[in-house]
Amino acid sequence: MHLSVSEQTIAPARNIEGSLRLPGDKSISHRYALLAGLAEGTSRFTNFSTGADPSSSLTCVQALGAKVVNNGDGNIEVTGVGGQFQPSSSPLDCGNSGSTMRMLAGFLAAQQGEFTLIGDESLTRRPMERIRKPLSQMGADISLTEGHAPMTIRGAALNAMDYTTPVPSAQVKSAILFAGLQASGLTTVRESVRTRDHSELALRAFGAEIDRTLDSVSIQGGQKLSAIEAKVPGDMSSAAFFLCAAALFPGSNLIFDDLGLNPSRASLLDVLTALGAHIGVINLEDKASELIGTVQVNAPQNGLTGATVSGALAAQLIDELPVLAAIGPYTQNGIRIRDARELRVKESDRIELVVKNLRAMGAEVKEFEDGLDVPGGQTLHGAEIDSGGDHRIAMAFSVAALRAEGETLIRGAESAAISFPEFFDLLDVVAQR
Ligand code: S3P
Repeated sequence: MHLSVSEQTIAPARNIEGSLRLPGDKSISHRYALLAGLAEGTSRFTNFSTGADPSSSLTCVQALGAKVVNNGDGNIEVTGVGGQFQPSSSPLDCGNSGSTMRMLAGFLAAQQGEFTLIGDESLTRRPMERIRKPLSQMGADISLTEGHAPMTIRGAALNAMDYTTPVPSAQVKSAILFAGLQASGLTTVRESVRTRDHSELALRAFGAEIDRTLDSVSIQGGQKLSAIEAKVPGDMSSAAFFLCAAALFPGSNLIFDDLGLNPSRASLLDVLTALGAHIGVINLEDKASELIGTVQVNAPQNGLTGATVSGALAAQLIDELPVLAAIGPYTQNGIRIRDARELRVKESDRIELVVKNLRAMGAEVKEFEDGLDVPGGQTLHGAEIDSGGDHRIAMAFSVAALRAEGETLIRGAESAAISFPEFFDLLDVVAQR
């Protein structure tokens, strides 16, 4: 998908009010696209993510022989190849999507033929050794360009493996599980911090058996996948921007219907509650093993308190940290983030850009190698924001702009479409001016 460069001007808001039903979760949509592409039969999804990233996963499985029908409005059909991808004569373009590149590599490691994976400038800077190493250990031949994409994979008959992930990463865990699904023997992935478990739940939904303990997941090789029909839950990481915005305005009232509430993704609700926000969850349902429900948020009358996010919580909240940091100045006691070095190797160096943009808005902030300290009780002014082409930075600072004095200009606002094309329109709907 080509995104033309654009800017957005965000005016301060008086309040946040309304009700939202968000497009499907990006992480789950990727997994459904990739697993449906390999499975036997036609899978049908509703509320599939509208973001450019999951669309990269769909384009890649299509180039590998799966049939994809996009009926619009989030309705997608994928007819899988039944276990054997076709080698693609041209490189597989993963766009901006680290999830596509890393997880697809896991599938292709066991497939016959040679596959080249490429990405945009940001993706080409991101570390890929973390998947090359385990997948090579299983028997695949993978070459990188100085640790990065372009990546060439020569698939092979893989051997199962017992692997402990060195960095908390759901993408690395998933790549190994998807390779393990096609390997001979039992593959086990161990992680010290339990990362999002959508791959485990999706594998089960597609008919694979997996075993889980508190800190490990095991999959027997040689299992076949069958097509499914599923509704994708609303994206919690997209909701995060609106949850944080609503938490800033005493008198706010925001409701999310059909929101994904998988516990490995919902820690932001706990943090906002600890900050003093009132969060209500009702109508919990199980959809293809994913929890879905209605969430209501109201801000505390006297403002948010403050929090430290570190250790396992930092890993579980990794995609929500930019917006939490961006609202830090408006809390009473500030937001302190540690153990989040991974933020430096996301779509941008998110620590550097959060610090730079908070300072542009007049905030005091202290940068650390693995996090930052954002003192509370600050007043910010509108500024020009450098999104660095990173969707979560563009959206995080649109939220900070709602409580600033004067207007804020978000440069590279088009990047929001990587995960959440509707973001600015929905912000206009719920922000009262
Ligand atoms: C994702 C995992 C996280 C997250 C990314 C999506 C996933 O990355 O930051 O946005 O869908 O598995 P890592 O696994 O690299 O931490």
